Amino acid sequence: MTIAQKLGFDVQQSDHARTAAEREQVLANPGFGQAFTDHMIVIDYTEGQGWHDARLVPYGPLSLDPATSVFHYAQELFEGLKAYRQVNGSIVTFRPYANAARLNRSAVRMAMPELPEEAFVESLEQLVQADRDWVPTTEGHSLYLRPFIIATQVGLGVNYPSRTYSYMVIASPAGSYFTGGITPVSVWLSTEYTRAAPGGTGFAKCGGNYAAAFVAQRQAVENGCDQVVWLDAQKHEYVEEMGGMNLVFVFGDRLVTPALTGTLLPGITRDSILKLAGDLGLQTEERLVSVDEWQAGCESGELTEVFACGTAAVVTPVGSVKGADRAWTIGDGTPGPVTMRVREELVGIQYGSRPDPYGWVHKIC
Ligand code: PLP
Ligand code: COI
Repeated sequence: MTIAQKLGFDVQQSDHARTAAEREQVLANPGFGQAFTDHMIVIDYTEGQGWHDARLVPYGPLSLDPATSVFHYAQELFEGLKAYRQVNGSIVTFRPYANAARLNRSAVRMAMPELPEEAFVESLEQLVQADRDWVPTTEGHSLYLRPFIIATQVGLGVNYPSRTYSYMVIASPAGSYFTGGITPVSVWLSTEYTRAAPGGTGFAKCGGNYAAAFVAQRQAVENGCDQVVWLDAQKHEYVEEMGGMNLVFVFGDRLVTPALTGTLLPGITRDSILKLAGDLGLQTEERLVSVDEWQAGCESGELTEVFACGTAAVVTPVGSVKGADRAWTIGDGTPGPVTMRVREELVGIQYGSRPDPYGWVHKIC
């Protein structure tokens, strides 16, 4: 018997499910992370007992004691992946075991319990099956899945991590993450703030990393840019990643991406692109990339394109860069051919219009 079977999944259908007309209204213009489906998953954890009471329940508010640990000490982590409606009508997710493994790496760093990978994948299957009508049919749209774990112990002591947790999954129909679709984004180099330092939580997908990032993202917007780019903590010289996506630099037929130093999130999109690159005739390098190399490469024409990649952002071209004392354009500021080819291949696998040579697609129904 698998762990997922042992946990069982108690299924409680929502009495307040929205009508088809209400759903269609949401799906006509979903935006990102604005509307949620009719159900959610909850699995509880108690020290000594392990994970228990797995259930699919109607989507709705939680009732938590104000002294619950997560509100005070941010012992929390999350994941992000999508369900896609493929061209043949199947509904699939993309590399869910990779997300399960990353969730558990985050859990270890946050002194939280690991969730068996099968339970993670089964929870996605249960939710997507129950809410399959919420998976958009519009090209390029998807159902964004947000698994997360919160510390639920009540009390303000900080001498020991929480002894109880809840794992949950919610789902949200998603259009384009950036309102401009796939038009290039402008980025702001953050030299005033730091996202992650060696030994910290940079590689973990925990809410605290994002809480500390809002101030720099706001600064990016105040400087007329769409997104913040994080640099290394020590010298603010090397590029790490963006607020919610990794970065890839295109030097002709070479894709160069910052190495996983422990201070940036190991993106599953990033990893997939590195694996697909060879099939597209592209070489890859994972290494440090400095801001100076970025600017000089654009000025000499050697660095031809830059793109951001992530579950929410897919593959999005970067058109221009601005910092406190410098600014430049990448290529002619329009989406480049390598960026668009990489995007087409990845999206083709996810939506089933291209073969899936690595078995990344996980069919749900
Ligand atoms: N970097 C950060 C900070 C992110 O939040 C994300 C999104 O999850 C990524 C990178 C890209 O990761 P993935 O491709 O797994 O979505
Ligand atoms: C994702 O792409 O899944 C992310 O988590 C990015 C952002 C919405 C935080």
